[in-house]
Amino acid sequence: MDTHIVVLAAGKGTRMKSALPKVLHRAGGLPLIDHVLTTASAVRPRSTTIVIGHQADAVKAALQGRENITFAVQEPQLGTAHALLQAEPALQRATGLLILLSGDVPLLTSDTLKRLIERHTSRGASATVVTAVVDDPAGYGRIVRVGEEIARIVEEKDATSAERQIREINSGIYAFQAKGIFDAVRSIAAENAQREYYLPDLVSIYRQRGLIVETITVSNPDEIRGVNSRSELAAASRVMREQKAAELMAAGVTIEDPATAYIDRGVTVGADTVIHPNVSLEGTTTIGAGCEIHSGSRIVDSQIGDRVTVFNHCVITSARLADDVSVGPFAHLRNEADVRARAKVGNFVELKKTVLGAGSKSMHLAYLGDATIGENVNVGAGTITCNYDGVNKNRTIIEDGAFIGSDTQLIAPVTVGKGAYVGSGTTIRESVPAGALAVSAGKQRTFENWVEERKKKSGG
Ligand code: UD1
Ligand code: CA
Repeated sequence: MDTHIVVLAAGKGTRMKSALPKVLHRAGGLPLIDHVLTTASAVRPRSTTIVIGHQADAVKAALQGRENITFAVQEPQLGTAHALLQAEPALQRATGLLILLSGDVPLLTSDTLKRLIERHTSRGASATVVTAVVDDPAGYGRIVRVGEEIARIVEEKDATSAERQIREINSGIYAFQAKGIFDAVRSIAAENAQREYYLPDLVSIYRQRGLIVETITVSNPDEIRGVNSRSELAAASRVMREQKAAELMAAGVTIEDPATAYIDRGVTVGADTVIHPNVSLEGTTTIGAGCEIHSGSRIVDSQIGDRVTVFNHCVITSARLADDVSVGPFAHLRNEADVRARAKVGNFVELKKTVLGAGSKSMHLAYLGDATIGENVNVGAGTITCNYDGVNKNRTIIEDGAFIGSDTQLIAPVTVGKGAYVGSGTTIRESVPAGALAVSAGKQRTFENWVEERKKKSGG
C-alpha cells in the first residue's frame, strides 16, 4: 500500500520569540524538520509534502538538498486542518495511507511510525492517532475516551477543568485513509477559543459518521515532545544527546559524563574511545577506535583515525587526523588540515589547508597555512608560513626529514628540500635545496658594559 507523508511546518512558532522559523531551530545539530524527514524516510513514502507558510522561502532553502519533496504553501495560517488542506493539490489522486507529521516533533522514532501504520491497516481504521500518557499534559490536546474508545480530542484552551486533568495527550501525529480525507477536513469548523481550524476535530467527525478511529500509545512520552518554546527546544536537545550517548556507550564507547557529551546524531565513534566531559562532536564527524578526547574540545565535520589523542581545548573543523596522531592542548585545525599517521601537533598551533606528514611534529606556537609538509619533519616553536602576500595565497613545501628551527618565517611560495636545515630565527625568502643549511639572522653583536655606560651617560 502507498504511504504519503505530509509534514506541517507553516506555523510561526510564536512562543519561540525568534526571527528564525521554528522548524529551522536546531537540536542535535540539525534543524527540527530534518529529524522529522529522516524518520519519515524510514517508511519509504511514495510522496512527501511539506506545508510551509511563515518564512516559506527560508524553510525551502534549508531543505534544498533533500530529494522527492513537494512544498505546499499555506497563507495565511489558519490552523492545522487548514494546513493539511493545502496539501490537497499535491495529493489529489493519492490512495493508501496519509501519515501526518508535525515539523516540531523531532524525537519521533521510525519504529513508532511503523507501529502506527501496522495498527491503522490491521484494524481497517479511517484515522489512527498517536498518543502518550504524560505527567504534565499542559499545552497539549487531550484524548477524551468513552469507554475504551477515543471519542474526540479537546485542545487545552477549549477544555473544561475536568478534561484538563486527562493525562493522555495528542501527539499531533496521525495516519489517515487518504481517500476522502480532504472532503472530511473541509467539514471542520473554526468554532473554538483560537478561531482556528483544528485537525484533531476530525476524530469526533469520523466517530459521528461511524468510522473506525484507532490510537496507539507510545511507551516513551519523550518521543512525541513538541517543541514550542526555547525551553522545550533545550529539553528535546537533551533527550537527543542522552539517546546518542546511550547508543554509543552500548557500542563500547566510554563517556565519562553523558550529561555534557554534545554528540550530534550523525557522528560515529569507535569502540574503546574515551570521551571526557564537555566535548562537542558535531556534524559528519567520525572518530575511530581507542581514541581519547579530552575536555573542552570541539570537533566538527572531521575524520579522526584510531588511537588518536585530542588533548584539552582543541578546535578541529573540516580536518582529517590519521591513526596514532596526537593534537593539543589548545590546537586549532581547520579547513582541510590533514595530519598523517603518528604526527604530533602541540599547543597553540594552527593548521589550515596543510598536510603534516607521517611522524612529523609541530609542538609549539606555529601557524602552518597552505603548506605541504613531508614525513618526519620537525617544525620548531614559533614557525610561521607567510602564505598571504596581500593578493594571493601561496604554498610552502617542506620535504621529508627537514628541520625548521624555531622562530622561522617561510615566505611562500617557497620550498625547503629533503633533509635541509633552517637555522633559528631565519626568514626564508628563497627555496632551500635538499641537504643545505639556511640561516638569515645576521651575526650577533654584543656591547659589553652597555648598561653601566648608559647609566653614566644619563647621569643616573
Ligand atoms: C497541536 C495539536 C494538539 C497536540 C499538539 C502536539 C492542533 C489544533 N492541536 O497543538 O492537539 O497535542 O499539536 O504537539 O492541531 N501548523 C501549520 N499551520 C497552521 C498551524 C500549525 O502548518 O496554521 C503547523 C506548525 O508549524 C507545527 C504543527 O502544525 O509544526 C503544530 O502546530 P502548533 O501550533 O505547534 O500546534 P499545538 O498548539 O502544539
Ligand atoms: Ca506544537
